[in-house]
Amino acid sequence: MPLPWPEDTLPVMLAPMQGLTNRGIRDVFANTVRPDVVFTEFVRVKPRSKRLITQADLVEACTPSADVPLVVQVIGSAEDGVVEATRELVARGVQHINVNMGCPFGRMTSVLAGGGMFKHPETIEPMLAQLRALVPGSLSVKTRLGIEDPRKIFEVLPAFESAGVDFMIIHSRTVKQKYTGGADHDLTRELVETSALPVIANGDVCDEGRAAQVMAHTNAAGLMLGRGAISDPRLFERIRGKAPARPSGQARRCELAAHLFEVLRAYEGLFCGDAQVLSKFRQLLVHVPDPELGRWIKGLKKKKRATEVLNALAADLA
Ligand SMILES: Cc1cc2nc3c(=O)[nH]c(=O)nc-3n(C[C@H](O)[C@H](O)[C@H](O)COP(=O)(O)O)c2cc1C
Repeated sequence: MPLPWPEDTLPVMLAPMQGLTNRGIRDVFANTVRPDVVFTEFVRVKPRSKRLITQADLVEACTPSADVPLVVQVIGSAEDGVVEATRELVARGVQHINVNMGCPFGRMTSVLAGGGMFKHPETIEPMLAQLRALVPGSLSVKTRLGIEDPRKIFEVLPAFESAGVDFMIIHSRTVKQKYTGGADHDLTRELVETSALPVIANGDVCDEGRAAQVMAHTNAAGLMLGRGAISDPRLFERIRGKAPARPSGQARRCELAAHLFEVLRAYEGLFCGDAQVLSKFRQLLVHVPDPELGRWIKGLKKKKRATEVLNALAADLA
């Protein structure tokens, strides 16, 4: 099946992040730093509801950004109706599907969805095989190392391969770890060596130096950037050698202000009213942990109206 990136290239992708990677921010990334591939936030399958996918999720899944391939992530088990939900997405034109097998939070781990899939690995292959039969573009999985045992991934790998998955993304932590400790890229490397599939490395890549190290160490087929891309959107360009190292002081603030200005304008077009727009915007600011810019960010968070934030950001650009 065609991969969502050109053959013989090492893609750098924007990770799926719930609450963050909506179509507004995906557009901003696509129009500025152009990740090679972007992902939706997970599309949650709603079992036993009249509509398996909410209208809001359908709009998100069916709105690609200019010229950057979109992969739609689904979360849910076959029992929940993930196959039917995917059929609906495909009928609406979705090409590339990714299955979330790593989410460590809430309900996802108590049923056979997200990281919970590891509890019953025998369900993985049949579900993926059904998805394979109906997905026209690439079928991929995004997973972690296991629930507690970081070597569990090696037991489920054959299920991915025999179901006809095209590539996998590994966030090299266990589900139990959530975001604590560090991503174990020794295990990423072992997975790359063991797997017949292209493996995309993910976890704790926050600057171009680390990106080069992880690629050299693991020999992965590409990289996925999450929090690092939110706090430094130009990281894609730095990794490609198209932008200098992350600046500090006023230059850093100016770079970030330009990005945040575009995101906020996109949010004004997507969400209703200042309260919703600013709540989404603040969610983004949480992921810009920059001590040097702490006061500035705190000031942005406190503003009560979107126009006040836009004016403050514009002043940084002047
Ligand atoms: C706020 C937030 C939301 C996330 N939502 C998702 C999601 O919807 N689907 C998913 O597969 N991973 C999700 N993740 C995990 C990221 O895609 C990524 O695997 C993880 O953050 C590690 O990469 P990083 O160190 O580059 O951030 C989320 C992470 C964060 C911080």
